[in-house]
Amino acid sequence: MKIAIGCDHAGVAMKNEITPVLKELGVEWEDVGTNTEESVDYPDFGEKVAELVSSGKIERGVLVCGTGIGMSIVANKFPNVRAALCGETYSAKMSRLHNDANLLVLPGRNIDGQTAAEIVKTWFTTPFEGGRHQRRLDKIRAIESRLCK
Ligand code: RB5
Repeated sequence: MKIAIGCDHAGVAMKNEITPVLKELGVEWEDVGTNTEESVDYPDFGEKVAELVSSGKIERGVLVCGTGIGMSIVANKFPNVRAALCGETYSAKMSRLHNDANLLVLPGRNIDGQTAAEIVKTWFTTPFEGGRHQRRLDKIRAIESRLCK
């Protein structure tokens, strides 16, 4: 699987901590930046990853900012993006099983590297359950179609 990964200055350290985990999982990534701790604006990087997922050019994305909140707000503006802010493995697991989340958001300043690694492993190895959950995703898509006219 090939994904896109991005962060702001508050997420650089965590992005660097999780790339070895992606490698271990056999996940390839395209890094859209940022790559220094110089202050940047999270919408600029959130947009790049969300656009790639939204257009279908890339299957999934990972975004990291300080709280994960800003990146989540940006990513969920994009049609077809189901971004899940996860600070523990239960949310990571459920966001895949029930929501078929295609973009993982991590709170770089709120969890440690070990927790992030566990979240990433869980998120990438948990399948979507389908069934009644697909019906609910279809309803989300219908809302998007209505709003994006
Ligand atoms: C940057 O200081 C911080 O506001 C950002 O990383 C994020 O937490 C926004 O939601």
